[in-house]
Amino acid sequence: MHTVGPSRAVFGAGTLPQVRGEAERLGRSRVMLVSDGAPALRKDTERLRDALGDLLVAEFDGAAMHTPVEVTEQALTVLREHDVDCLVAIGGGSTTGLAKALAVRTDLPQVIVPTTYAGSEVTPVLGETRNGRKITRSAPEILPETVVYDVELTLGLPVPMAVTSGVNALAHAVEALYSPDATPVTDAMALEAVAAVARSLPVLHDDPSDQEARSDLLLAAWLAGTCLGAVGMGLHHKLCHTLGGAFGLPHAETHTVILPHAMAYNAPAASEAMDRIARALGAPDAPTGVFDLIRRVGGPTALRDLGMAEADLERAADLATSQPYPNPRELTRTGLTGLLRDAWQGRRPQAAAGALPDLRPLTDEVVASFDGCADPRLRQLLTDLVRTLHSYTARNDLTPLEWQQAIAFLTEAGHITTVTRQEFILLSDTLGMSSVVDALANSRTPDTTSSAILGPFYVAGPPAADHGSDIAGDFTGTPMLADIQVTDQDGEPVAGAVVDVWQSNEDGFYDVQLPDLDGPVLRARFTTDADGRFTFWSILPSEYPIPDDGPVGKMLSAVGRHPYRAPHVHFLINAPGHQPLITQLFVRGGAYLDGVPGQRDAVFGVKDDLITDFTPRTGPAPDGRPVDGEWRLLEFTFRIARLDQH
Ligand code: BEZ
Ligand code: FE
Repeated sequence: MHTVGPSRAVFGAGTLPQVRGEAERLGRSRVMLVSDGAPALRKDTERLRDALGDLLVAEFDGAAMHTPVEVTEQALTVLREHDVDCLVAIGGGSTTGLAKALAVRTDLPQVIVPTTYAGSEVTPVLGETRNGRKITRSAPEILPETVVYDVELTLGLPVPMAVTSGVNALAHAVEALYSPDATPVTDAMALEAVAAVARSLPVLHDDPSDQEARSDLLLAAWLAGTCLGAVGMGLHHKLCHTLGGAFGLPHAETHTVILPHAMAYNAPAASEAMDRIARALGAPDAPTGVFDLIRRVGGPTALRDLGMAEADLERAADLATSQPYPNPRELTRTGLTGLLRDAWQGRRPQAAAGALPDLRPLTDEVVASFDGCADPRLRQLLTDLVRTLHSYTARNDLTPLEWQQAIAFLTEAGHITTVTRQEFILLSDTLGMSSVVDALANSRTPDTTSSAILGPFYVAGPPAADHGSDIAGDFTGTPMLADIQVTDQDGEPVAGAVVDVWQSNEDGFYDVQLPDLDGPVLRARFTTDADGRFTFWSILPSEYPIPDDGPVGKMLSAVGRHPYRAPHVHFLINAPGHQPLITQLFVRGGAYLDGVPGQRDAVFGVKDDLITDFTPRTGPAPDGRPVDGEWRLLEFTFRIARLDQH
């Protein structure tokens, strides 16, 4: 079940003045402004007063941490004296807490202007303290009606506070992900919040004025707060409340210290959530990832630095286990004592057993080694190659043996490669890489014939041939007459286009694969006439296996793939003032054109518009050549791109 709270949010930079309109939208005219009187917010509070203008009838600036009931009662007196009908609060969690405490007692609507990342402004939960004990309750009246998130108000939030407040938001997102009430909606919000905190905190730490990072963090607070309002929290929140309520530890700092340890405790029982968190953090392991993030941005990591006495750890463990509450992992007193002890000392939590080591420093160092590269494109390509390779290796937990095998494979590919046998091109082809490069380079001009991969059997500078000549030499097969035209994308004939043609024989071999052959055969160069045309005779191509007696062939058989290419003829067209076109024409009805992946063309080279009729004919050919039996007619118009159109 997922219930959406009824609150309204206004988000953006410079939204503060909209508070007046929001109060009016609620039909209110007598506002009490609530704050904690902190000097840091004096200017913004003054601007808010100005914006509220004559709606402002009362003010209370004594909000205090943990929302003590006595303070709420003082504020209630002021509220009643002035016949207030709307609460506007500017500040962090304490101020929001006071507004909520007033709202639950008076049913007045609230407009909250958060200046930290507490997130409580979007929850229906109120935690108050009476005589030092924290009491938490949830009610619809507690949920503020409207929140005005003004990124500009958070610009002045000092980095240490931004850090602890941001980790507080992170804690809501983390516990939402393993909450029994989690829904796909809260999961999505929580993961985005985790990622936003992880990317913004380091930026903000290094440059506190970075508005984008501030905005990211405020957005994370909103998302994480919404999760907090929608699902129940676990061990981490319970522990923090206990430590705050019973030992007076500061709220956000306590969250910051406890979170990695609570996560490490829960990790064995919430491995799926931890994996998702780790991915969102961009870290190999979630608890240590959070700990390292906090350390990176200078946040507190030890309870002892927050003033907690070591002697109090046992009592804290008792309190935290005294009432049962939902948590992924069973809470044991010994377990919690260990957790608190680690947190008290500020130890880095243990990465989960079997967790990957943190490879980021190594990857970063390799990437930094390209800093001196003068060619920015080369630097970009190497940087991304290293990141992708490292990440591939880590994601698959590649073993030394597997890496040795990969190197042996490449070595074998190198050894078998000669002038006429290019195993690396075969590898690129059979992994679809050649087709990817081809698609990126050549699929961007509409109205032109699709390109296809070059393949390893092209030989530059084939013999020039006359129109109508036969390129099949002594090879036998079904005669084929090709009647080809080259036009531009508007259908205008391209005269003087140089067209190289090559294909295999009936047994599936190219001339270069037959050492005893006196070639070149089945390859030639034609030049188009004034109509952009040329014709030639050849034989019908058949399907053939790509060379599969090397490492690529072994790879194909290891994955149950066949090595066959669908029957085709290759064309390479160069015309002055036009984009070159490398392509192939496939015989409609030929083998390996259809079927499931792995049963089709072995190099992923077929495109629909390149499948064409090689029409069966009998009788004399149009050029008067006598032909016995069936022959085939291939008529095709290639449309190539004019360079000015590119
Ligand atoms: C070819 O069509 O000639 C070809 C393409 C890729 C690998 C082997 C051959
Ligand atoms: Fe081919």
